[in-house]
Amino acid sequence: MNTIHLSHKQKTNLGSFYTPPHLVRLVFDTLAKNISGNFADAVLEPACGYGAFFAEKFPQKNVRFIGADIDPVALTIASENFSNVEFKKINILSQISRSKFGINENEKLAIVGNPPYNDITSHVKNKIKSEPCEIDSEIKTRDLGLSFMLAFAKLKPNYIAVLHPLSYLIKKTNFETLKSLMQNYELLDTVVFNSQEFSETSKTNGFPIVAAVYKKNEQGTSYGQIIKRKFKTLEKQEFSISDYDYICKYISKYPSRNSNSSDFKFFTMRDINALKRSRTFIKEDTANTIYIPQEKLPYYCYVDIFKDIAHNLPYYFGNLDIPFDKQSFEALKDDFFALSIAKHPDIFANRFSIPEPDRIGFAKAKVQNYFYKFFQKVNVCLKF
Ligand SMILES: C[S@@+](CC[C@H](N)C(=O)[O-])C[C@H]1O[C@@H](n2cnc3c(N)ncnc32)[C@H](O)[C@@H]1O
Repeated sequence: MNTIHLSHKQKTNLGSFYTPPHLVRLVFDTLAKNISGNFADAVLEPACGYGAFFAEKFPQKNVRFIGADIDPVALTIASENFSNVEFKKINILSQISRSKFGINENEKLAIVGNPPYNDITSHVKNKIKSEPCEIDSEIKTRDLGLSFMLAFAKLKPNYIAVLHPLSYLIKKTNFETLKSLMQNYELLDTVVFNSQEFSETSKTNGFPIVAAVYKKNEQGTSYGQIIKRKFKTLEKQEFSISDYDYICKYISKYPSRNSNSSDFKFFTMRDINALKRSRTFIKEDTANTIYIPQEKLPYYCYVDIFKDIAHNLPYYFGNLDIPFDKQSFEALKDDFFALSIAKHPDIFANRFSIPEPDRIGFAKAKVQNYFYKFFQKVNVCLKF
């Protein structure tokens, strides 16, 4: 059920994009595959909204259900719909403890749900974002969802079965922010799906979300395990960060402090989804300007041309860096270069002549063949 009592601004601030039933089932099915017997005494949904997670069958009988949210209107609606659940109005990000939820220290606890993910620094919607609630300094992060995950770890549940952006695992800075979770929880299972499965969000650019099941375990989860992990998708595809080499091993993604000015400039690179939106070669000097060393120019052309095929890639590439096959690239350097010159005559014309149409056609065919073969190796069929 979609939120009906909140304005667009309120929804964005609270991250109130409610979960459709098939995704709640995905969380429970993924959990069910990884547990046995009576694994929980209490089930807490700490950001329950209208209670989507109480509408589906939980994989264990005889547990007590607790639902919490900061939004009192959502809780009123939830409590009308689910009489078997104890509902409480709680800000989970402030002074968190089990007792706040009426859960004993010795109860086996499972946390389920779909906490809000709302990057408070993101440029996309920052005009309408503000800090929505009080957050304890020890769990304060740049993204509300990361703070939620840290709050979950503080409640010391036996299991956590939630939806969160895949970037929380695969982006090293996020993973490190989640240290207190990752050091104490083993990542048991994951299923990746497209954020566009939520009808209200990301109409244009989907990003990968994961249904993730964590189990309390002192061995925890290392970043090395994430890199090697075979992630399965809802569409039954598989991918791993370690499937590829990445261009950022060879060139810098960000402006470096001691770089000198140069003839060619590039906009800061983030992940593939950011590349789809951002510019590549630029003329201006800004805080985001990378000054390209002459010998690295073809590598930046690679990124420039990669941008053109990025829209053909499946959504789950969205938060990856730009993959790269150095050996095949070496033979095609001039072709990537020719295509960039043709694409940005205003930038290159002073120094290089614009290639003839035949030369461009030839380069295009070779480059397309490179990308086709590159992605075919990982079972992704690119259509141009
Ligand atoms: C993505 S919605 C999910 C709602 C519900 N779990 C579902 O899947 O349908 C996130 C919910 O988090 C709630 N929320 C936001 N900040 C909160 C906070 N600090 N403490 C508790 N709940 C919060 C919002 O009111 C919203 O209902």
